[in-house]
Amino acid sequence: WVLMVTAQTPTNIAVIKYWGKRDESLILPINDSISVTLDPSHLCTTTTVAVSPAFSHDRMWLNGKEISLSGGRYQNCLREIRSRASDVEDEKKGIKIAKKDWENLHFHIASYNNFPTAAGLASSAAGFACLVYSLAKLMNVKEDNGQLSAIARQGSGSACRSLYGGFVKWIMGKDYNGSDSIAVQLVDENHWDELVILVAVVSSRQKETSSTSGMRETVETSPLVLHRAKEVVPKRIIEMEEAIKSRDFPAFARLTCSDSNQFHAVCLDTSPPIFYMNDTSHRIISCVEKWNRSEGTPQVAYTFDAGPNAVMIARNRKVAALLLQRLLFHFPPQSDADLNSYIVGDKSI
Ligand code: DP6
Repeated sequence: WVLMVTAQTPTNIAVIKYWGKRDESLILPINDSISVTLDPSHLCTTTTVAVSPAFSHDRMWLNGKEISLSGGRYQNCLREIRSRASDVEDEKKGIKIAKKDWENLHFHIASYNNFPTAAGLASSAAGFACLVYSLAKLMNVKEDNGQLSAIARQGSGSACRSLYGGFVKWIMGKDYNGSDSIAVQLVDENHWDELVILVAVVSSRQKETSSTSGMRETVETSPLVLHRAKEVVPKRIIEMEEAIKSRDFPAFARLTCSDSNQFHAVCLDTSPPIFYMNDTSHRIISCVEKWNRSEGTPQVAYTFDAGPNAVMIARNRKVAALLLQRLLFHFPPQSDADLNSYIVGDKSI
């Protein structure tokens, strides 16, 4: 027999960024962060997990290619989920798995991203969130999403925020064992549904410096990063929560753009410096800044993760249509060897 579960998880984009760990193996951050979860039909991971007595070891395929599960991050997630498994019964198939049997059963896992992997579009976030969620369903794990977020966090920090829709805060926590470093939903996907997210895929190539090694180098060498984590982010988190709750777009846009720019400044402050954005990214920033200034009040917020792709958040559908028009005029797809496509969606799960 084979028992299977399939789940779909959208990616999330941080508007107040996580950059830097205080514990590398448990993945505990040096500051809180806030993100918005995208619409699953636009940028998401679909994962099928199967269990069968015929499987002799755990195996995983990512976008059709087998990958190794020997890394600590996969092992931590698998161990944490296995230890919380419950009895499972499928009457139709005549399958009964007792809690203790899970120790000796193995999984085959197939995962697909509908967007470029490791190009700064948070593929690990959707990937680990989906892996943990689908395994938890398969093994009848009773934990709530907050507790599951602490497991997904051990796969990739940003993954903990993908277990909820809407706007989500990852609380850094204080415990040395990470039990209070979890994600909480600030507002659900219906709270601010005028927002439209537009992604400019500036490059679909793999980034040169992974987030993991990039943030390690920043923590080791940047004199700016502690000032950011201790002085700047705590204030921004309070202001951002307020802006989201009151749907204050000008404040939201100001905070989102400033935080993205400071994150990239901290990358430049790293030795050797890390460059995630390219010329097209910089030109997109100038274009949005010029437009926002000419309107007198911000219409669009931009943010860039560890890659050159631009994530833009328009205040409503009308602005999103104008933005797309502008982008297609100034940055037509394929005009630049790297510029691939635009993905338009809304923010909600
Ligand atoms: C720039 O979550 O990919 O996207 O925890 O080492 O797996 P690891 O890093 P990851 O880092 C994401 C960094 C970011 C900002 C953010 O999503 O908050």
